[in-house]
Amino acid sequence: MATQVERETETSEAQIAVHWREEEYIHPSPKFIGQANASDPAIFERFSEKNFPECFKEYADLLSWDQYWHTTLDTSNAPFWKWFVGGKLNASYNCVDRHLAKDRNKAAIIWVPEPEAEDTQAITYQELYRRVNEFAALLQDFCGLKAGDRVTLHMPMVPELPVTMLACARLGVIHSEVFGGFSGAACGDRAADSGSEVLITMDAYYRSGELIDHKIKADEAVTVSSEKGNEIKKVLVWQRYPGKSSSPTPMVPDRDVFVNELLNTYRGKIVPPVSMPAEAPLFLMYTSGTTARPKGCQHSTGGYLSYVAGTSKYYQDIHPEDTYWCMADIGWITGHSYIVYGPLALGATTVMYEGVPTYPDAGRAWRIAERLNVNIFHTAPTTIRMLRKVGPDEPKKYNYHFKHMTTVGEPIEPGVWEWYYNVVGKGEAAIVDTWWQTENGGFLGSTLPALQPMKPGSCGPGVLGINPVILDEEGNVVEAGSGRAGNICIRNPWPGIFQTVYGQPERFVEIYYAKYNKNKDSKDWHDWPYFAGDGALQAADGYFRILGRVDDVINVAGHRLGTKELESACLTIEEVAEAAAVPVMDEVRGRAVEMYVALKPGNKPSKEIEEKVGESIERLIGKVARPKAVWVVADMPKTRSGKIMRRVIASISNFTDVGDITTLANPDIVDTIRHQVQAEKVSRGQQPRELSPTELEEIKRFGQAE
Ligand code: PRX
Repeated sequence: MATQVERETETSEAQIAVHWREEEYIHPSPKFIGQANASDPAIFERFSEKNFPECFKEYADLLSWDQYWHTTLDTSNAPFWKWFVGGKLNASYNCVDRHLAKDRNKAAIIWVPEPEAEDTQAITYQELYRRVNEFAALLQDFCGLKAGDRVTLHMPMVPELPVTMLACARLGVIHSEVFGGFSGAACGDRAADSGSEVLITMDAYYRSGELIDHKIKADEAVTVSSEKGNEIKKVLVWQRYPGKSSSPTPMVPDRDVFVNELLNTYRGKIVPPVSMPAEAPLFLMYTSGTTARPKGCQHSTGGYLSYVAGTSKYYQDIHPEDTYWCMADIGWITGHSYIVYGPLALGATTVMYEGVPTYPDAGRAWRIAERLNVNIFHTAPTTIRMLRKVGPDEPKKYNYHFKHMTTVGEPIEPGVWEWYYNVVGKGEAAIVDTWWQTENGGFLGSTLPALQPMKPGSCGPGVLGINPVILDEEGNVVEAGSGRAGNICIRNPWPGIFQTVYGQPERFVEIYYAKYNKNKDSKDWHDWPYFAGDGALQAADGYFRILGRVDDVINVAGHRLGTKELESACLTIEEVAEAAAVPVMDEVRGRAVEMYVALKPGNKPSKEIEEKVGESIERLIGKVARPKAVWVVADMPKTRSGKIMRRVIASISNFTDVGDITTLANPDIVDTIRHQVQAEKVSRGQQPRELSPTELEEIKRFGQAE
């Protein structure tokens, strides 16, 4: 295994000091290289900058086009890039119909329900074709939906979710799936933002052995959407057990309808796929940022689908005979790109699992892998840490063999990487650490698995056709190997990049492009580096190490939570005057949230208020966002201009040095809060642990983005 080489670099005060250990390379096995989709180094030349943007033709040619495009990249309305202009295609046709001739009877989706006694469902391409067509007919005839309309989905990990997405895509209807674990209010908020008149949900689903009532969230979503001025007219409810209602929440007459009952009317109906322009939106995916309002990332049909097909082929190394299992939730971008659209565009077999990877015991994931003969496995560091915690030796008990594994969503600690490699992968699998974001459609940073060695903790260089650069605050390039961190940016556009923030084009430009653009009238893509919002370092070999967000987003278990969203949820509580969310290091979830609140005059701190804070966040955002601790404090540390110093309270929560507090308007409060919080933490047994240099940096940086 890798030996660690200490590398330390001193930096000036203006720079971010970084001290990190550089890991040694690990090379994939000859067996893996021998079968890889990308094993000829000539591919780097094909995708080199001098061949940009035409290099992406190679990805687009993986698809079937109704009409071929005439312009690969149109930059005339920079930075609203248009890819494959003039081209027409349908995403549902590409993911389903075109595979029928050769692979009609091959499993497209293998769905594993959480209860082990329930049968696994293998849905062939033929069966998927029938289900997608019948549901598309229902959407068209019963709901009156047509190309360009938006529909909100709030569905769990069931095969009806990809069926719904593909049925929408068949009609050119823009789907907007909200993660099933988000609250009804969060769903309603997003439905209103997208102007959806139809909500598609499910009555219930399994989570840790419990059949959860999900329909209840639809009622709240409709109410919240209506409060925001958007009427949801129809709620389509899939049944977890067709023919039987699994939710005690009543159906609302004239609004709610059981899909499974209605589908009888559409049995055998075929809906021709609507030929869509390449730049027509395929879906929206909401994500968090610096303000409380979530951003609806709008993804295109032709560019997006080309990009996820290409990266699935070369980086996921999916072959027709592979069984590919990505354990993400389809409610996140990873699931859209690398459970549904990428693998299905390639005609692969994609596995979906309904529930919790450690239910009913630590061996569950490995039993699924063994039984289905999964050979490509894809998950996040949080899940890897959890699997290691509950069953460090469990993978050895099962006879499965992965050729390839992916990690995504958060930085992975080298020790966790090594367990993934040695124990989960049994030392046989090539690993790709893929860095990217909801906005990006597909991977941005990763090693090409057969051609570039792995380096634990680093995602690798930019992927094919992607040219990342690290810039300092002034826009100067931070050289590779300098040991300095900065803002990672992508110099060029790529087909998977989102088109805009739905309904907020000015925010799209402001957040992602304005920072480093010097001429807003420029039509030259070189003038528009994409600002990713992550801090990173580039080693001398070109590999990037991602340090985390620079924009007040907390990455909890791979979920992006905006501090402003969390704070505004607290401010809905009558007694709360001020709120601040900070990250705290967590052994399994990477980061957890701690909430600090100060009360309006006349209110006293109480357990009840702490409870209210937790409940309010759960109701307005979802359980994933529930804070690990709530601290009701006498006052917040503030600058003289009244800004809450989040880095100071973040330091207190993490037992690190609070740094310079001389510029505070109320420096005395710092000691008061420290005593209150740290004494309580110690009494709860939450002893401080030493933080790594990069974790320390994150705390120091926290809250500086405003
Ligand atoms: O901070 C980076 C982190 O996750 C953020 C994007 O989150 P989201 O839009 O939810 O998409 C997650 C899945 C694509 C990034 O800004 N991140 C993502 N992948 C990695 C990562 N951090 C380190 N290493 C990664 N491989």
